[in-house]
Amino acid sequence: MKIVTAAAEIQQLAQKLRSDGYRIGLVPTMGWFHEGHLSLMRTAKMKADKVIVTLFVNPMQFAEGEDLDSYPHDLERDRGLAEKEGVDLLFAPLAADMYGQGFKTSVHVAGLTEGLCGGDRPGHFDGVSTVVSKLFNLTLPHLAVFGEKDFQQLAVIRQMVKDLDFPIEIIGHPIVREANGLAMSSRNSYLREEEITAALSLSKSIGHARSLVAADPAVSVAHIITAVKELIHRHRECSVDYVEIVDRLSLAPCSSITADSVLVLAVKINQRVRLLDNSLLTVQ
Ligand code: PAJ
Repeated sequence: MKIVTAAAEIQQLAQKLRSDGYRIGLVPTMGWFHEGHLSLMRTAKMKADKVIVTLFVNPMQFAEGEDLDSYPHDLERDRGLAEKEGVDLLFAPLAADMYGQGFKTSVHVAGLTEGLCGGDRPGHFDGVSTVVSKLFNLTLPHLAVFGEKDFQQLAVIRQMVKDLDFPIEIIGHPIVREANGLAMSSRNSYLREEEITAALSLSKSIGHARSLVAADPAVSVAHIITAVKELIHRHRECSVDYVEIVDRLSLAPCSSITADSVLVLAVKINQRVRLLDNSLLTVQ
């Protein structure tokens, strides 16, 4: 596996792979790999001939006061893990190379970015859409794999790809969880031992919401949301950023439960660690 840090070089290598007839699969990441990232890499490996993984903690998607500076980082560790998965190229640029002097462009996907995480983190998705556009142009993939853990992000990327005619197939990958149910995340490394029980309230409350729907498919949206918040707030470490039930594609709030209803949650643990989780509410 080759590590590339220069934007111009990765683009040249990608051009060469394309002209040699290879199908390129891309997995964009911010590093500190866990099994979630590694399963995305495996999916890319299965569906493409050559896999490019990008590792870039993108300053444009972090607001002032967020965890840009403390985001876990260990290139050697991640290099070893990616290599084991058979990744061909690891692109790990410096911020100065991605956003040079005089950088002026921002990609904004309207509507889909306004609620949920977009409401709590204004500008966040512009940072994501802009960097992902750049990564698409630098790595020239035929397909790109994104996790459903970041449910709104996946919807935003799909919309951007459609609107801007990127000739790239977007593949969504199901959430990878720890054995105890916790959705894997690089930010789980911020959790202290005694905070794990509180963090588990996200997946547990999702399980409860699904059982409410299984028992009564006509159960009201409001009833589920109240029950989920109540379960989470039993842990004094938890504060809810949002608990909503939205349509899988439009992200519009659901007025009743359908096969496309997704429960989405963002919860802060001790005002320090922001965790996301989501799930369809009906058994498919
Ligand atoms: P990061 O948080 O590193 O995640 C990289 C990819 O891994 C995303 O597509 C994310 O949804 C996926 N992922 C993370 N945890 C997962 C899990 N438990 N199960 C399945 N997939 C999981 O998301 C980003 O980076 C950035 O916003 C990025 C897209 C790279 C743009 O900077």
